[in-house]
Amino acid sequence: MTRVLSCIQPTGDVHLGNYLGALRNWVSGQHSADVFHGIVDLHALTVTQIPGVIGNNTLQLAAVLFAVGLDPDVATVFVQSHIPEHSQMGWIMECTVSFGELSRMTQFKDKSAKREAEFVSAGLFTYPALQAADILLYDANEVPVGDDQRQHIEITRDIAMRFNHRFGETFVIPEAVTPASGARVMDLLNPTSKMSKSGADDSGVIYLLDQPAIIEKKFKRAVTDSETEVVFDRERKPGVSNLLEILAAATGTNPQKAAETYTKYGELKSASAQAVIAMLEPIQLRYHELLSDRGELMRMLHKGNIRAREVASATLSRAHRAIGLLESK
Ligand code: TYM
Repeated sequence: MTRVLSCIQPTGDVHLGNYLGALRNWVSGQHSADVFHGIVDLHALTVTQIPGVIGNNTLQLAAVLFAVGLDPDVATVFVQSHIPEHSQMGWIMECTVSFGELSRMTQFKDKSAKREAEFVSAGLFTYPALQAADILLYDANEVPVGDDQRQHIEITRDIAMRFNHRFGETFVIPEAVTPASGARVMDLLNPTSKMSKSGADDSGVIYLLDQPAIIEKKFKRAVTDSETEVVFDRERKPGVSNLLEILAAATGTNPQKAAETYTKYGELKSASAQAVIAMLEPIQLRYHELLSDRGELMRMLHKGNIRAREVASATLSRAHRAIGLLESK
């Protein structure tokens, strides 16, 4: 059976890009593969955290993952810091990737440039090594992600191949899987930048828990262009194309088809808003239900952690044996 792994950071609120680019596909894939999904709280430490906040964010994100439809009896949903093998394998990955390779990561270049006056942690630089550990620990064949993560999956493949070459066949070589529409949801106000939870101004970001009136307002303000024609052309018409792609992803059609239905920008904006509101409504209801029972949420996570740990510890031991570290007994 195909093994699938993908993770999300508990920083900021989950937005439409996370949902359409990743979470939705995690849910649709859970019955046809053996799936593992992690809340990667250790990755979130790469930027300075306020004491006491991250645990709560982790629990809220767990509620989101179950609310979008991950079934704890089917999918293994776990918390990264509860599985110590991630940190242990992370070190091995750091020793299998080069300084030069990490220096070429666009996310590091972007993020460190944005934070130039602030503290840039070494963890921000070595982040892809920990991500490689997340993936390789679970023998993942497929990693369903948005477009922005492709480079991190590529470096994971390189690390796995290098390790296998040095120490013998140990890791499965994973592949990135991105959705046909929604792989790169753009900011509504700045449609040449991806929708992101780390942006300073979030009025172009649709959050999964935004109320309908807020969603309508954000779509109404979406940047289009000075023309009037509704066509799908990412290069020439990034704003309109982004709306078409969101609408298509939310209604299960394709952006070219969606373009044929609308002649005015205003109609396209309100249709997109309505489609997103309808898509998010049941998720929001379920989220609030789940969050009202902390004990049950913790039980759901605990179940995932146990299964995740079984798989992760077996892979870590395999890697230790391949390297030839002295056994402890
Ligand atoms: P994170 O937490 O930033 O995002 C989680 C998922 O959401 C996708 N995504 C988007 N997709 C489409 N359009 C967007 N605007 C958009 N923004 C985010 C991301 O591609 C991702 O799939 N490094 C990862 C977390 C991670 C991970 C892993 C992922 C750690 N270990 C192992 C896969 C496998 C990250 O920061 O994702």
